[in-house]
Amino acid sequence: MSTSSSQVKKYPVGWRIVHWLVAVMVLTLIPVGLWMTARGEADVWGELTNTLYSSHKAIGFTVLLLMIVRIAMKIRLGKPPYPDTLPRKLQLAANGLHHLLYLLLVLTPLFGWAGVTAYPALVTLGGYDLPAMPFVPENRELAERLFAIHGAFAITLGVLVLGHIGAAVRHMLRKDGIARRML
Ligand code: HEM
Repeated sequence: MSTSSSQVKKYPVGWRIVHWLVAVMVLTLIPVGLWMTARGEADVWGELTNTLYSSHKAIGFTVLLLMIVRIAMKIRLGKPPYPDTLPRKLQLAANGLHHLLYLLLVLTPLFGWAGVTAYPALVTLGGYDLPAMPFVPENRELAERLFAIHGAFAITLGVLVLGHIGAAVRHMLRKDGIARRML
């Protein structure tokens, strides 16, 4: 480890915990979302499909709640500055990607929630219902459109997450201490 990497400032511990919780949830939600939708389109209904949908909705809604906490932390605590050794252009690119990730991590679950409100299909694990999103009417056609937007956002999010993981691995290989800020 170089001297500069040992001086790199870490994210606060609460922020790191929320980061990894959201990461595990999103990496679960994308394959589960694709799998359950494929089963639904193939008209394969039953306990497994229902559990996939219920878990997806419960975990997705939790991501939305965690994002509220995460944004509050970001506003309150501010992000630790990058070391001067990281070129300015890379700092700008990283900040841009992070803002896009935050935006999609809010919009994707919001559109999923709006879709299940319009459908309506609010039931989640254990038979508990999610609250209905205010001001969203019950309308199947609207629900289909909201789900299409939800799916497009989720796929875009998946691509950005891959880029984000690629950047983290690159920092790990360069041993510049940037990836360790979130560990
Ligand atoms: C970050 C959070 C979320 C991610 C990454 C995510 C991801 C996905 C993905 C990849 C699909 C498959 C899309 C397709 O095949 O077109 C999907 C479908 C779906 N998601 Fe999510 N989702 C999230 C949050 C939510 C939330 C909060 C809800 C509802 C409360 C929800 C409800 C649904 C439903 C009902 C479908 C099936 C839509 C259909 O049948 O067309 N999702 N999601």
